[in-house]
This record gives sequence, C-alpha cells and structure tokens, in this order.
Amino acid sequence: MSLKVFIESILPAIEAELQRQVARLDEPRTRPFYEMLTYHMGWTGEGAGAEAQGKRIRPRLVLLTTASCSANWQFALPAAACVELIHNFSLVHDDIQDKSDLRRGRPTIWKKWGEAHAINVGDALFILAHLSLSELKDRFAADVALKAEAVIDRACLDLTRGQYLDMSYESQPGLTVKDYWPMVAGKTAALLSACTHIGAILGGADESTQEAYRDFGHYLGLAFQVHDDYLGIWGDSALTGKSTDSDLVTGKKSLPVLYGLGQDGPFARRRAEGPVSAEEVPILAEQLMREGAKVFTQETADRMTDLALQSLRQANPQGEAGEALFEFANRLSNRQS
Ligand code: IPE
Ligand code: IPE
Ligand code: MG
Ligand code: MG
Repeated sequence: MSLKVFIESILPAIEAELQRQVARLDEPRTRPFYEMLTYHMGWTGEGAGAEAQGKRIRPRLVLLTTASCSANWQFALPAAACVELIHNFSLVHDDIQDKSDLRRGRPTIWKKWGEAHAINVGDALFILAHLSLSELKDRFAADVALKAEAVIDRACLDLTRGQYLDMSYESQPGLTVKDYWPMVAGKTAALLSACTHIGAILGGADESTQEAYRDFGHYLGLAFQVHDDYLGIWGDSALTGKSTDSDLVTGKKSLPVLYGLGQDGPFARRRAEGPVSAEEVPILAEQLMREGAKVFTQETADRMTDLALQSLRQANPQGEAGEALFEFANRLSNRQS
C-alpha cells in the first residue's frame, strides 16, 4: 500500500465516526438545526462534498500518531472525531469574530442563518466533541481517557486565549513579530499539539515519547498558521475557499503584516494612515512582497517545519504511519488550500 493510499484509507473511517457523533442531534423537531451542522461539516446543502469538508488534518494526525506507536488506530476514532468537532466549533465562531463570508468555498453559517444561530451551532459542535471523547472510556483505562480529556480541555482554553490575542491585536499599535508567537501558539498550535499528544497517549507511548509527539504537533501548528497567513495574502482564494483580502482589510496582525510594519517603509506608512479598502489590497500585497514579507513568511514556515521534523524524529514513529507523518509535515507548509 502506498503512503497516499494509507493516508486516504483512514478518511472514510473519520467521516463515518463524525457522522455518527453529529447524529446525536438528529431529531425531527429540531431537524433544521441539525442541518446547519451537517451543512457546516460539508455533508449537506449546496456545494456539499470533499472540498466543503476541509482537509480533516487534525483527526488524521490523531490516528496516524496512534498507528505510528504501533497501536490500533481504530480505537482512537472517538478522539479523532473530537478534535475535528472542536476545530469546526472554532471555525464557526471564528467566522463570526472575523466577519468572514466564505469558508471552504461556501457561505459561512452566520452569513446563511445569522450570528445568533451560528453561535448556537458552534456551541453544539463543542459539546458533541466532548461527548465523543467520553466514549474513549469504553476502550481505554480510566486514567488514559481522563488524561486525554485534560489535554483537550487545556487546548480549548489556550485556543480561546489565542483568539483573544488575535482579536485584540487588530486595534493594538506597536506590535512586533515577537507578539505573533503567543497568539498562534494558542489559536492554532494548541489544538494540533493536542492531536499528536492524544494520539501518543492512546498509542501507549511512554512519557518522553508523548512529549516529543506533543512538541511535533506544536511546531507543526506554528508552521501551519504561518503558511495560512501566507495564503491569506498571496494564496488563490479559489483554492483556499476563503476570501484573500480579509486579512489586509480587517487589520489582522498576521505574520507578513507584522513583518511589514516592522520595516517602517511604504507599507507601514500606508497602514498608519487608516483603514485599507478592498481595492487597495493587490497593491498592498505587492508592496509587502517588495519589502521582503513573502520570503520571510515562507522561510519562517520552513523553519517551524524543521523544528517539527526534529521533534518527530525524536518521537521515532514506526511503520507506514510514521512515514506518513513525515510526509504530512513536509506537505503542510507547501499546501495551496
Ligand atoms: C483553518 O484550518 C484554520 C486555521 C487554524 C488556520 P484548516 O486549514 O485545517 O481548515 P479546514 O478544516 O481544512 O477547512
Ligand atoms: C484560525 O484563525 C484559528 C481558529 C479558527 C481558532 P484564522 O482566523 O487565522 O483562520 P482562517 O483564515 O479564518 O481560517
Ligand atoms: Mg480568526
Ligand atoms: Mg478567520
């Protein structure tokens, strides 16, 4: 079996587990509510299908990590569903917070049904995630299941702290590239780190191996968000399924923006003058590139990927799943979507 086939073979199992978990909400009286969730998960509504489902990176990381510890990945499926549901909860709320109209190439939940319903959909996804995780106790010893739950809860708390920084940075002057790291460690890396940490816990890895996997997920998460920032300005919105102008228009302190502000050049001067319009975005993106932000961002993603690979080598993952993790890490900071 090639690596690609191996990685792809776990996807149907992830999708089936997610559908089983979300189906807890499938009751006749509140069916339209259930359908808001199935729409967001990419299963129903206009444009449903593989692209609308996203990449399912986080559950794949959980399962590949468990398998690379030479354990049965199928037992970890409730944890895989949990992290994807947490991720989707955070996306539904994030799109309200960021006023984003488009997610995975389709209108966002708040855009379709309004903010009040979107908050409720996010809440439901969050609780479904926890119910899913609680099924671990059917397969694992109580202390193992409890440790996994503690890792998830910590990650969720860190995620909210990261989101707080992301939002408050929008109106905060004087920030530098150094301020970037606590924000992304929280909003993105905390959950990716939880994925590989939990995968290792459920795989029965010893304490120091668990830590190496946790660090792998952390650096992978940093690399992932840096590349997401890159795509947010220089990506193709037809491929990312997200609007490309929003980061520059909303004043988000993404890595290229913080780098550009630090150059004190034409980009920083324009930003100091006030809000940027959608029409100006291509010019500003070009200016940022001329000031070195594009190269800097790509190099930073590569540096974080190297750190991730270093931790992964320390974890010493086994078999095809181990190889798949190396390949996965190499691919994430070169992705187009
Ligand atoms: C998007 O994550 C949000 C970030 C943390 C950058 P993904 O790029 O993993 O989103 P989907 O699930 O594939 O759509
Ligand atoms: C990603 O936030 C982190 C979370 C959703 C918690 P962003 O706002 O940077 O990501 P996109 O670009 O909307 O996917
Ligand atoms: Mg955001
Ligand atoms: Mg966003």
